[in-house]
Amino acid sequence: MKNKDSIENNWVAILDFGSQYTHLIARRVRELKVYSEIVPFNIKAKDLAKRKPKAIVLSGGPASVTAKKSPRCDKGIFELGVPVLGICYGAQLMTKVFTGKVIGAKKREYGKASFKPSSSKDLFKGINKSQIVWMSHGDRIKKLPRGFKVIGTTSNSPVAAMSCESNKLYGLQFHPEVVHTPNGKIIIKNFIKGIAKCKATWSMSSFAKETIKKIKEDVGNDKVLCGMSGGVDSSVLALLLHKAIGKNLISIFIDHGLGRKDEAKQVEKRFKKHYKLNLKVVNAQDDFLGALKGVTDPEKKRKIIGKTFIKVFERETGKLGKIKYLAQGTLYPDVIESVSPTGGPSATIKSHHNVGGLPKRLKFKLVEPLRDLFKDEVRLVGKELKLADEIINRQPFPGPGLAVRIVGAVTKERCDILREADWILIDEIKRANFYNKLWQSFCVYLPVKSVGVMGDERTYEDAIAIRAVVSEDAMTANWAHLPYSLLEKISNRIINEVKGINRVVYDISSKPPSTIEWE
Ligand code: XMP
Repeated sequence: MKNKDSIENNWVAILDFGSQYTHLIARRVRELKVYSEIVPFNIKAKDLAKRKPKAIVLSGGPASVTAKKSPRCDKGIFELGVPVLGICYGAQLMTKVFTGKVIGAKKREYGKASFKPSSSKDLFKGINKSQIVWMSHGDRIKKLPRGFKVIGTTSNSPVAAMSCESNKLYGLQFHPEVVHTPNGKIIIKNFIKGIAKCKATWSMSSFAKETIKKIKEDVGNDKVLCGMSGGVDSSVLALLLHKAIGKNLISIFIDHGLGRKDEAKQVEKRFKKHYKLNLKVVNAQDDFLGALKGVTDPEKKRKIIGKTFIKVFERETGKLGKIKYLAQGTLYPDVIESVSPTGGPSATIKSHHNVGGLPKRLKFKLVEPLRDLFKDEVRLVGKELKLADEIINRQPFPGPGLAVRIVGAVTKERCDILREADWILIDEIKRANFYNKLWQSFCVYLPVKSVGVMGDERTYEDAIAIRAVVSEDAMTANWAHLPYSLLEKISNRIINEVKGINRVVYDISSKPPSTIEWE
């Protein structure tokens, strides 16, 4: 795209100093239909200049600018003639660069604060006098940098906001990108649209058109292999590729027997019959259930499923002849983790198995058309491609499927029981209009025998736990306060309709300290 209003002429660079909120800045900018990209904090000014960002944001970060080894950016960044907004650490760094003074505050300021902007102009256009803002900092700006003035205060931070209007440099001690700063979106909009004059060019229809064109150019007449799981990412991935290269896309769905009720049948019906994809469905239930036989340890289950997946994938794709490319549903959050100065998530709590975990020795070239997108943007692309709402709005489902929802050993019989119970739960949750309000809702199989009575007979059977949570991103989650009447209906139906279950319990634990899945 060469015209002056194109996406690439209207983008915002976000320098990442390791804040847990950096991705939120990127999202807030994109919500304004302006493309944003997170780049490493130490990017060279001349490299950034080549890509001509229209605005630059310096993120927050865990370090202190008073420490010798704290991350610094190239000073040339401030000489590009592009508006710069520093947030928290970013504002303190700006202070340091322009010879102001930052000191460790006696009292760490964390949480809500009342902020008073000194005017309702520029950055604070449309904002009332006193504002709730979210603070999370130990250091504070003690002496303003040269050429700057104070444009807002809180009781703890005499310099809560500052600017050097002639050079279009702005600094905020608080975080406008988090929801706890209710008017943060307005402040970001004022900076991006008002001060930096970015235009709204980032839309999912333009993304889809551009991407389809690019895949055609990159792949040419070669073949691409796409592993499908039936979830939203791999469905959008396959549809984009299908639009670009038609029959040269070979999709493969490996039915591991650990999916939801009728999952394989539905994938086949939808993608082979309806969308006319060149799709191969492989029934590998025996491979997976055989390998899982007698295994009870959750991490062992994941490892076995991962390994079996690779084995079956190699076996089946070996039958397809030479294929040059492999499509992968890498999303932007995965990419961000790899550029972050802190090197991504601090601890792996559960090893996740995804199609992306294929070994390098398979020697495919990768096609990753979703790598610039957040999950909600993938959903919007799905809408553009007329993907069924049922898939677009599907709750997340773990790669290892029911294996991590059956406590203890996995057997075909247990999978079938769990599938039936889960189907009832989802049916009732949908009828009661709760499905889209919940992050996830599912059943867990508990091999815990208890006594019951059914008619005149005594039963001694296993239990089902219902898990329903609300969450923004699965990092934290609260158990959902579902109405008793709904829980009662679900429980009655499961006990009456699913053979082998005589007790249903409701999981009322939140994350942390519990996790969403039981295993
Ligand atoms: P936890 O249980 O760790 O789950 O709170 C957080 C989110 O991750 C999903 N999950 C997985 N997804 N492979 C996946 O692809 C896995 O092994 C796995 N384990 C958990 C879980 O469903 C929730 O959305």
